[in-house]
Amino acid sequence: MATNGEQKQESRHQEVGHKSLLQSDALYQYILETSVYPREPEAMKELRELTAKHPWNIMTTSADEGQFLNMLLKLINAKNTMEIGVYTGYSLLATALAIPEDGKILAMDINRENYELGLPVIEKAGVAHKIEFKEGPALPVLDQMVEDKKNHGAYDFIFVDADKDNYLNYHKRLIDLVKVGGLIGYDNTLWNGSVVAPPDAPLRKYVRYYRDFVLELNKALAADPRIEICMLPVGDGITLCRRVS
Ligand SMILES: C[S@@+](CC[C@H](N)C(=O)[O-])C[C@H]1O[C@@H](n2cnc3c(N)ncnc32)[C@H](O)[C@@H]1O
Repeated sequence: MATNGEQKQESRHQEVGHKSLLQSDALYQYILETSVYPREPEAMKELRELTAKHPWNIMTTSADEGQFLNMLLKLINAKNTMEIGVYTGYSLLATALAIPEDGKILAMDINRENYELGLPVIEKAGVAHKIEFKEGPALPVLDQMVEDKKNHGAYDFIFVDADKDNYLNYHKRLIDLVKVGGLIGYDNTLWNGSVVAPPDAPLRKYVRYYRDFVLELNKALAADPRIEICMLPVGDGITLCRRVS
């Protein structure tokens, strides 16, 4: 039986952005409170708190994943980047703050309204000039980009956090656009832990629908000789793919 303390932890874990696959809520809370929140840039905190009030806040990138992306981009000296799936822009801001003054992010989302909710915070942080936002489905844009050889190998880092049923379609195109030695990060590759759920497990409809696509993606990435991979249980699971050929 859960004690009061455990119940409290459980409810805290439901807070927006507290997306984790860790089995211990207390441990996740410890990570956030000890290492993430104290070092979170003011603008990211503001954007996280603003997003928490939005009805679709479950979609936001968690604060620990935001911190991870920010560090990763600095480690690889990323300059030219792409993001598919922006929502209110938490991962976008983590990226924009990490890349140099003349760095670029091509950011795509079918929904401009949510991007514009977060935009004033991004502008206040002084990094909006790095972002080119394209409203609409990402796939046709990628198709166009692939046609032009000058886009081949042009990206240091690409973050994919949008329609899971298209991830494999994205991969087919992104592998040409990322440079050899560059990274593609696919988000939600552990899909709420559902990748190991038994066939009869009671899953929410959208979790069940996308699960098969995520399973297929994970298999395909593991078998793709053009990349090295690393699947991390950060947030909802992120698979980093380093292009090697
Ligand atoms: C999980 S959210 C992105 C979260 C975001 N990275 C963040 O840090 O808050 C997924 C986003 O993908 C967008 N999306 C869905 N289908 C898309 C498509 N075909 N092309 C581009 N964006 C799409 C949705 O509008 C939504 O904003």
